[in-house]
Amino acid sequence: MARPKVLYVCQSCGYQASAWLGRCPECGEWNTLVEELDKKTGGATRQVGLSSGVAPRTMAAIDVQKSPRMATGIGELDRVLGGGLVPGSLVLVGGDPGVGKSTLVLDAAMRISNSGRTVLYVSGEESAEQTKLRALRIGEAGDKLYVLTETNLEVIVRAVEKLNPAIVIIDSIQTMHNPELPTAAGSVGQVRECTARLLRMAKESGPSVIIIGHVTKEGAIAGPRLLEHMVDVVLHFEGDRSYSFRVLRAVKNRFGSTSESGIFSMEENGLTQVANPAGLFLEEHKAAVPGAVVTACLEGTRPILVEIQALVAATPFGMPRRTAVGFDYNRVTMLLAILEKRLGFALGNQDAYVNVVGGMKVTEPAADLAVVTAIVSSFRDQAVPPKTLVLGEVGLTGEVRRVGSLARRIKEARTLGFTRFIVPHSREAELAGQAGIVAVYSVSEALAAIWQS
Ligand code: TYD
Ligand code: MG
Repeated sequence: MARPKVLYVCQSCGYQASAWLGRCPECGEWNTLVEELDKKTGGATRQVGLSSGVAPRTMAAIDVQKSPRMATGIGELDRVLGGGLVPGSLVLVGGDPGVGKSTLVLDAAMRISNSGRTVLYVSGEESAEQTKLRALRIGEAGDKLYVLTETNLEVIVRAVEKLNPAIVIIDSIQTMHNPELPTAAGSVGQVRECTARLLRMAKESGPSVIIIGHVTKEGAIAGPRLLEHMVDVVLHFEGDRSYSFRVLRAVKNRFGSTSESGIFSMEENGLTQVANPAGLFLEEHKAAVPGAVVTACLEGTRPILVEIQALVAATPFGMPRRTAVGFDYNRVTMLLAILEKRLGFALGNQDAYVNVVGGMKVTEPAADLAVVTAIVSSFRDQAVPPKTLVLGEVGLTGEVRRVGSLARRIKEARTLGFTRFIVPHSREAELAGQAGIVAVYSVSEALAAIWQS
């Protein structure tokens, strides 16, 4: 068989060259040429489409048998997937190195195999012994879990055809290669070609494929954006390695919503699910301390209570320092400016540090009012009364704006013993007449209510 020819195609203008060039001679862009197999010379086709001979059908004539989903046995993972794995689907799991992707997916593989289904775990990064050692930490593996250490995708596809597993796991896509392409594993062309091959395999012979992908420094899954277009589900596994807390989020899901998230804790023997995360980050203080404020953030659809801490101290020389950990730095400087300009706090000669306790990252503006309160509390050296929850987005004029799912957040805080709620005005009917709710329109109103001055 003649070796299929490789073409280099410009991703920007489509220009084709027979050798790699740093700069496209057609459009002048740099580093846009990516290798592809030339279909005319018999290389694998990248397209997976309907076979010819299929006529268009009316929507009404299409018969759907509701495909049964395969539960993975990990409730938090099933929740993010929208109820389990859909047969024949491609799921991409991305995340920083060491966050626990292999651990999560191997755990799922072991549970699925224990339920009587055949699972093939392909590792391109670790030896079979290493995978076994990891499995021993996590739990019991049944005799339906197969491990293959291989990086050549054609060999893997043949193994799948022979074994006919329900689930195939690829750890990771960046280590896989098609030997017909001249570039090394992990290059854009290789990643794309290998994913396309796996997609074809999944649609033809029906196993669900879980692909693990590394994430670049910028936070995107390495390889072209196209990878995310090709798969059915994209999950991101996030967490700070110095803490045990991990969140699994759906970024794209063709079979479910992307508003759910799964919460885990990395322990000695694998990942533990945190089914009721609301109070995960709360710690009992012996006495109320200045600079600490509790707010309720939404993680997916579930509220989590987090403590925001601030420290304000006189600047020893010149420029005041501002830092934020777990919260957006620019938002902290904006909130400081609002306090200075709208409420008359003299913070221009004060250092300010803001920290979210427990390694949690708060991206919701709903935590603004809590940050503001923490800063004021530290500045005045006056603690917020205990069992007080502070919630609300702060606008540039110093107004407190509405936040979503207010009733749900308050309900969760109430079960954790909170009795006073400083919240924005809201039209949520459920809240009418509830005890302990103080609805405010502005930051100054909120601060007055907290300290009842
Ligand atoms: P791993 O799944 O290898 O991460 P990834 O595949 O995303 O690179 O997990 C790596 C980290 O998890 C490692 O630093 C050790 C830790 N870990 C535990 O704390 N407990 C465990 O039971 C296992 C298997 C790993
Ligand atoms: Mg790994």
